[in-house]
Amino acid sequence: MRTHTMLTTSLLLILLNFSSCLANAGHAGSSHKHLTPWEQIHQTLHTYPLAIDNKDSSLFPAVFAPDAFANYTGPLSNLTGIEAITTALQASVANVLSQHQLGTTVIGIHEPTGHSGRHHTANSTTYFVASLFGTGEEFPMSSHVYLYGQYRDVLARLDVGWRITKRQLVFMGPFVGDQSLLGG
Ligand SMILES: *[C@@H]1O[C@H](CO)[C@@H](O)[C@H](O)[C@H]1NC(C)=O
Ligand SMILES: *[C@@H]1O[C@H](CO)[C@@H](O)[C@H](O)[C@H]1NC(C)=O
Ligand SMILES: *[C@@H]1O[C@H](CO)[C@@H](O)[C@H](O)[C@H]1NC(C)=O
Repeated sequence: MRTHTMLTTSLLLILLNFSSCLANAGHAGSSHKHLTPWEQIHQTLHTYPLAIDNKDSSLFPAVFAPDAFANYTGPLSNLTGIEAITTALQASVANVLSQHQLGTTVIGIHEPTGHSGRHHTANSTTYFVASLFGTGEEFPMSSHVYLYGQYRDVLARLDVGWRITKRQLVFMGPFVGDQSLLGG
């Protein structure tokens, strides 16, 4: 009888843990106050693929600061403000299926500066491989292109959490595949 109760209790705890894991995964953009600053920054950086690949404009504010600047080079080299960033980046994947695979992530967290001591900043370098696939509509089903590079970011700790304030994309190799998928 006691064994049965213990088993039931353990099972309940496992289920509770599991459901809280699911709840956390479902809120990739939330504040994560229980995480260390490094973990919070990592979470912000790694929420980006969910935003861009799911074409989920509601997740962009969980990644970029309202007044962020982003330079993705070419026609996307001067994106100022979260709205411009969201619109331009969503348009860049509008006609393809995309997968952004983030890898090497190095984060430097700086001591607070300024008289108030409240300006926490960080910078980071994150490697990516972006794979774009034709969906059979705008581009043929089997067409694809792979882009290799890194995001060089500056972040600030805002009231809502760590957000990218400046992003510079640096490519690390040739575009591999059908470059027509990159659009204009
Ligand atoms: C964007 O990045 C490219 C490549 O590094 C650079 O040549 C260009 O000057 C940058 N543009 C802006 C507005 O920062
Ligand atoms: C970038 O865009 C801003 C307006 O958002 C403009 O003032 C600035 O001159 C542009 N810079 C470049 C290098 O095109
Ligand atoms: C942070 O910025 C400094 C100065 O530009 C640079 O030397 C350093 O490599 C950057 N750190 C990361 C992790 O990107």
